Amino acid sequence: MSSPEITYLGFDWSTQTLKAVIVNDDLQILQEAEVQYDSDLPEFRTHGGILRGEQGEVVAPPFMWVKALDLILDRLTLEGADFSKVVALSGAAQQHGSVWWAKGCSELVSSLDSKNFLHEQFALAFSLLDSPIWMDSSTKKWCNQIENGVGGPEALAQITGSRAYERFTGAQIAKVFETKPHLYESTERISLVSSFACSLFAGKIAPIDFADGSGMNLLDIAKKTWDTKCLEACSDHTLLEKLGNPIESHKCIGNISPYYVERFAFDEKCQVIEFTGDNPSTIAGMRLSQGWIAVSLDPNMYSALLCFSNGSLVRKGVRDRLADKSWELFNTMLDSTPRGNFGNMGLFFDSPEIIPRGVGFGKWLWNRSGVLVNKLAPENEIRALLEGQFIARRVHAEDMGFVIDENTKILATGGASANKSILQVMSDVFNAPVYVQDSANSALLGAAYRAKHGLMYHNASDDEKPTFETITSGVPSPTLVCTPYSDAEQVYKPMLERYKEYVQSIVKENMTY
Ligand code: XUL
Repeated sequence: MSSPEITYLGFDWSTQTLKAVIVNDDLQILQEAEVQYDSDLPEFRTHGGILRGEQGEVVAPPFMWVKALDLILDRLTLEGADFSKVVALSGAAQQHGSVWWAKGCSELVSSLDSKNFLHEQFALAFSLLDSPIWMDSSTKKWCNQIENGVGGPEALAQITGSRAYERFTGAQIAKVFETKPHLYESTERISLVSSFACSLFAGKIAPIDFADGSGMNLLDIAKKTWDTKCLEACSDHTLLEKLGNPIESHKCIGNISPYYVERFAFDEKCQVIEFTGDNPSTIAGMRLSQGWIAVSLDPNMYSALLCFSNGSLVRKGVRDRLADKSWELFNTMLDSTPRGNFGNMGLFFDSPEIIPRGVGFGKWLWNRSGVLVNKLAPENEIRALLEGQFIARRVHAEDMGFVIDENTKILATGGASANKSILQVMSDVFNAPVYVQDSANSALLGAAYRAKHGLMYHNASDDEKPTFETITSGVPSPTLVCTPYSDAEQVYKPMLERYKEYVQSIVKENMTY
């Protein structure tokens, strides 16, 4: 039986925006609100929510994320939110980013003054004013240090599930430890963006959860404890204390801080459920099961993930340059070209790519004979961009062991999942049907669903703990939007092979990077 008096609140601190949603007991959306960092908080001068340095550094100010929370709570109120009905809240956040809390932070978050905005109270909260985030690629040296410290990339992957990646938090910590020793020393706690955001509600520094913690190169994912060798490869003995003990992703952290009870009339019994990374939360929001291109996981398991840094922003750049800043024109141009693009292909990297490793910035275009060319007709360049992006995703997914066959179904998420012309290219390249959920905000919805599951799990007796699937069984299934054309495999198979060759040639070309 659902209750009209009960709601759940979810947040998503993504790279470019903070979003919030309130759902009812049937998990239907009641109110939504959004803060765009660039336009709503221009004083931080971010572009796409980030600031770039000259050596591959990419950071964002945690103070901006706090200010965004002040704003979004007011926006939810304007949307008609009744916070007194919220029985549990949870959240998602971009993965890997680290928030460095100054000494005194535990005291600060537990004694917030409800008469003032949060940001007025967080001016001195952070030892590192700019948090390194997932797009950072400045830590190659420290990746090597960690891999060597534990016996090589394979050994590190055995323990933590991944070889060392520049954006992962371990290498970021090692870099701060070596290059900013005073700041390291003046740090009381290190949070991930998700556990930082959770702390704002919990009135204490929230633990890191297993799912997001597995993107740090520090967690022994089998034992679910920090690995001593990994920690030692990054910094000193104080790191263990700075990280705190990791916990399961569905755990109840406790009652909401009195700040929200006094300022926004939240019920004092409202429970804060552990926050997690945006990718685990997306998987929760999409309620993925086997046969889909991402494999289902329950809150205690891990999933395989491929992450590319050149995606929507590159597409938007090409749209602005070639299609008059209009998605409509972009789609018309795309639809006017045939599958396979007359054999033309392209690869576009505006920033260092995560997979494949070692390609530089730039744009490469090949004609049907495989000769590098400077230019294609604008509509062919648009198709080359999209086909190139999806071909790369398919090749690297298959390389990692994903099986793409006649049973594969793709669930598209993210902003572009509303663009049918783009989804058709994806469907053809993967030779698989593409589905979407009603809402493109899967990570955000995942947070609200997890709030309900976390609370139910917490309240149930040991032999009646509900599964995530049971809690979300009433949510409508995804809708089919595109199916591949019958010649898709014939058109794209050779292009997958050509991509492998081309990537090798451009990786070699940029070996110095
Ligand atoms: C995953 C990753 C990104 C961020 C984006 O490893 O780096 O998907 O989580 O928010």
